[in-house]
Order: sequence, then C-alpha cells, then structure tokens
Amino acid sequence: MALEKVRNILADADKHQSSVIAFDAMDYPTISSAIYGAEAARRPVIVMLYPAMDRYMPLEAFASMVKNLAAKVRVPVGLHLDHCSDYDYIVNAIKCGFTSVMADGSMLPFDQNVEFTSSVVKAARIFDVDVEGELGHVGRGTNTDDYTVEESYTRPEDAAKFADITGVASLAIAIGSAHGVYKSTPKLSIERLEEINKATDIPLVLHGGSGIPHDQLAQAFKKGINKFNVGTEFFKLNQTAADEFFKLNPEPETSFDHIDYVQRKLQDYIEQKILLTTYEV
Ligand code: 13P
Repeated sequence: MALEKVRNILADADKHQSSVIAFDAMDYPTISSAIYGAEAARRPVIVMLYPAMDRYMPLEAFASMVKNLAAKVRVPVGLHLDHCSDYDYIVNAIKCGFTSVMADGSMLPFDQNVEFTSSVVKAARIFDVDVEGELGHVGRGTNTDDYTVEESYTRPEDAAKFADITGVASLAIAIGSAHGVYKSTPKLSIERLEEINKATDIPLVLHGGSGIPHDQLAQAFKKGINKFNVGTEFFKLNQTAADEFFKLNPEPETSFDHIDYVQRKLQDYIEQKILLTTYEV
C-alpha cells in the first residue's frame, strides 16, 4: 500500500476502541522489522524518526525507505516525525516527505506552547500534514517525580482548550508515563485519561511505552489512547540481540551474519508487541 495518513490510522484505531503502536526506528533493520512485524501480525503501524537519530539516517532517506517498504505490505503504514521543538526542522521534515509531525512545546508555558504548536499546524495544513501536540510534559523514567506527581498530569480542561485553539490532529498527554527506563513500575491514571477523553474530540497519544505493564495498556487503549509510542525497548533489543549473536557465534563466518539474526529478533518482538492492539486489518 501507499503510505497511509496517520489521521486515518488513528481514526480507525478510535473506531475499534484501540490503539496503533508507533515505533521509533533508525536504520534499515529497525524500519523493516517494524513494517514486516506489523504485516505478520496484520496490524497497522506507524514508523517514527526521533530527530537526534537523523545522523544515522537523514530525513529524506528515512522517509523514502518507509515509503518504499510500505508499498510492499498490505497493512497501513504511517510515517511520523517524533518529538521536535524546532519549527524549521519540522518544515524541512515535511519537505522531505513526512506526512505527520510532532510539535513538542510541552516544556513551554501553556500560552507559548499554544503559539508554537499553532504555527506548526498552520504550516503543516498547507501540505495536508498531521500535527501531534503535547500538553503536560512527559518526562524521563529515571526521574520518579516525572511520572508519579499527579499535579503535573494533563488537565482535561486545558487539553480541550489546547486542542480547540491549536487545531492539532492528536494530543500526547501526561497520565503517569515517562520516557526511557522506569525507576519503578509506572501506574497510569486511567481515571485522568477518561476525563481527558471526555473533554476532547481528538485521538490521544501515550508516550514512554517501554515498561508499562500490559494490563494497564489494555485499559488505556480501551479508554481513549489511540496512538502508543515505543522506543527504548526496541532499541535495547537491537543491541542485546547483537550481543547474544556474538556470544553464540564467537567466530561468525562473515562480518554481517549477525544482521539477519538481529532483524529476526526485532521482527518477532514487533509482532508480539503489536498484538496488544485488538483489531486486524
Ligand atoms: P520509550 O523510549 O520510553 O519507549 O518512549 C518512546 C516515546 O515515547 C517516543 O516518543
């Protein structure tokens, strides 16, 4: 299939009261295993580039690789630029073929976040590109306060106002998750999620997907999360699978034997993880 608009993938997830999983990727093995893992599981998928990773694969190359591989599978594949707070970088990503972008103004005070995000939405509309905003900062798992202090979670009335003024296509919210490795098991506030979902009409996004217990995810998908971002688990596996290969094969025949091994592990991981979502395509 041709690349699918992220807005259509999220609308379908919402219709099924479930979520699509969005994976950060950085090179051919990670991009292709995300797409072929989704194909094996018969689930849609979104492939994301985190801007700092563009030194491994530049924006244009990343976009065309995702586009090229999407054309080889039957499941819908979306392409998205993950966390970006730089207007010029976002516009460049759009020019390079990204059909969905995140305008991350979550570190800014409310009004400045609105101003920044609105300016990105205005530019993105010219190219019919979707924008994900973030309100209520999703921090780091290494800092317990970032995901346990409820006063910093997204407030339903703010989310409604933010969505209304900016015109974002989706909104990342803070309800008890954080990026990277968690210091302790996170506990999502499903109650807060339900309140935000009630107050807004747009798909909601959960960041910091590595390490959240699966029963909590099932609840979150049912109660309003339509896009779920995963990075750390996937990248860690990329490394541990290579370590494992070299332990098993201290003297491989060629210097590239490990690539197939790693890719198989990554694809199996994607296939299993993505089965957390409840609808086939
Ligand atoms: P993790 O790296 O914690 O899985 O989070 C990924 C993410 O939220 C990317 O936006």
